[in-house]
Amino acid sequence: MHIEEHKSLKTYNTFSIDCSARYFVSIQSISDLKEVLQSSIHPEIFILGGGSNMLLTQDIDALVIHINLKGIEIISEDKDSISLKVMAGENWHDFVEYCINHNYGGIENLSLIPGNVGTAPIQNIGAYGVELKDVFNSCSTISLNNLSEKEFNKEECKFGYRNSIFKNEEKGAFIITSVTFNLTKTNHNKSISYGAIKEYLNNLQIENPTLKEISDAVILIRKSKLPDPKELGNSGSFFKNPIINDIEFNQFHNNYPEAPYYKISNSEYKIPAGWLIEQSGFKGMRIGDAGVHKKQALVLVNYGNTTGKEIVSLSKKIQTKVKEDFGISILAEVNII
Ligand code: EPU
Repeated sequence: MHIEEHKSLKTYNTFSIDCSARYFVSIQSISDLKEVLQSSIHPEIFILGGGSNMLLTQDIDALVIHINLKGIEIISEDKDSISLKVMAGENWHDFVEYCINHNYGGIENLSLIPGNVGTAPIQNIGAYGVELKDVFNSCSTISLNNLSEKEFNKEECKFGYRNSIFKNEEKGAFIITSVTFNLTKTNHNKSISYGAIKEYLNNLQIENPTLKEISDAVILIRKSKLPDPKELGNSGSFFKNPIINDIEFNQFHNNYPEAPYYKISNSEYKIPAGWLIEQSGFKGMRIGDAGVHKKQALVLVNYGNTTGKEIVSLSKKIQTKVKEDFGISILAEVNII
């Protein structure tokens, strides 16, 4: 194990914010992870996965542990389905490609989402009608309390929209070391009703798409709207789409009949924050090197050398104006450190 000091984290967070770690170690085995957790290098520790859902606003005065555990293992398999255990440090999109190449169905709609497998359950990543919870079986963790290993099944994870137990009552209490997925080998349950996917397949006159064709559609749609973190620092959706009740919705819908919305239950409606932010005039806005993406107002971007504090300041301006204009509060999805 190689422990580094005052290490820049610029290449370890997709926002490309140049903050540093007091101590930094990249971990490739569970035994090394346990050893480092028992060490007294620094009283504080900070767990770093793919760095794709966080905004650094300050240097981290702690031992930063980069979870770099790799490997994919078949747990069980029959003619129709397969269960795979994937180590936390595997890159999410590389895993999606592995599944498509092996014709394992279930996560093709989640193509091109930045980040690692181990952090995917924390916010129950989701896109184009599919969420991680749809294919999730369980995850293995290490308790930071007593270093014991604990397995969480799907129910125990309490998944919700961009939410799980790991963002609430167990926040910061466990390190996810691997995730086990249930995927299909035949009779794939394809989710192709999302407007832009449907349109792509119709244009190509594809009626019964392969996993690869669905993935290609998702990649094309994402590339047309979402910036590539390698070219322009960002953390995907900076805000969650707000959920409002039926009374608030009726008023909103009367005032803005053209606004898009998704009915999620009899009394709850989700409104795209990107639409609200665009209407409030922020789409494409740039203040210094902090900006609102030109093609998707839900995404805040780093044009080069912005700081986390500047991004936070821009996000607050947006939240205040959207609240003023629509009476709706939008909350950050990204973890602000
Ligand atoms: N819209 C605008 N202006 C914008 C952005 C969006 O008017 O600048 C409108 C669109 O025209 C559309 C609606 O808002 O009518 C929804 O837009 P889109 O389909 O792009 O999806 P979203 O609600 O903005 C969510 C997820 C994305 C995910 C897409 C597709 C959240 C917070 N975001 O975005 O997730 O890829 O749906 O399923 O739920 C991420 O989490 O990082 C992420 C990118």
